[in-house]
Amino acid sequence: KRIAIFASGSGSNAQKIMEHFKYSDDSEVSLVLSNNPESYVLQRADNFEIPTHVFDRHEFYQTDEIVQLLKRSEIDLVVLAGFLLLVPENLLQAFPNKIINIHPSLLPKYGGKGMYGDRVHQAVIAANEEEHGITIHFVNEKFDEGEVIHQSRFRIEKGDTLEIIKFKGQQLEHLHFPKVIENLLKKYN
Ligand code: GRF
Repeated sequence: KRIAIFASGSGSNAQKIMEHFKYSDDSEVSLVLSNNPESYVLQRADNFEIPTHVFDRHEFYQTDEIVQLLKRSEIDLVVLAGFLLLVPENLLQAFPNKIINIHPSLLPKYGGKGMYGDRVHQAVIAANEEEHGITIHFVNEKFDEGEVIHQSRFRIEKGDTLEIIKFKGQQLEHLHFPKVIENLLKKYN
């Protein structure tokens, strides 16, 4: 099976996914796409000799080029890993139930437009939550609202700083995201 990863930033999740599938017999990361030419994920993909594609908002929202590229590359699953743009209708329709995202909270809590990065964890701390976690879900036309595939949770201890809870969440993301993808791909023919 062929995976495409979309990322806008550092790409630490993409890194784990590329590592996981590097020696897989039946699946691979075939393409890495970013809307941000500065995104470190592009360097990471280069290190794995995985092709990359950088696009701008016009290409993403006003043309069919990304869908065509994914089709040409015979992509089976689209993985959003720290990708900050809303997925357009043409892409959703071309890959029904084949686009997934990871979000650093226990959705539906702390999701939606503008809820990303440190803002999520700041909101969690401000609300005195005792529990926090990560969600992997199918993507639909709204930010962070598609059907949940997987959640992992952890306790917030007294004195946990933003850095600490962010780190705990990242550890869970890195551990679970590749496995969740692998399990999902097993269900495809
Ligand atoms: C992750 O926390 C993910 O949940 C969110 O964006 C972050 C991406 O981090 N959607 P990285 O680029 O994979 O390091």
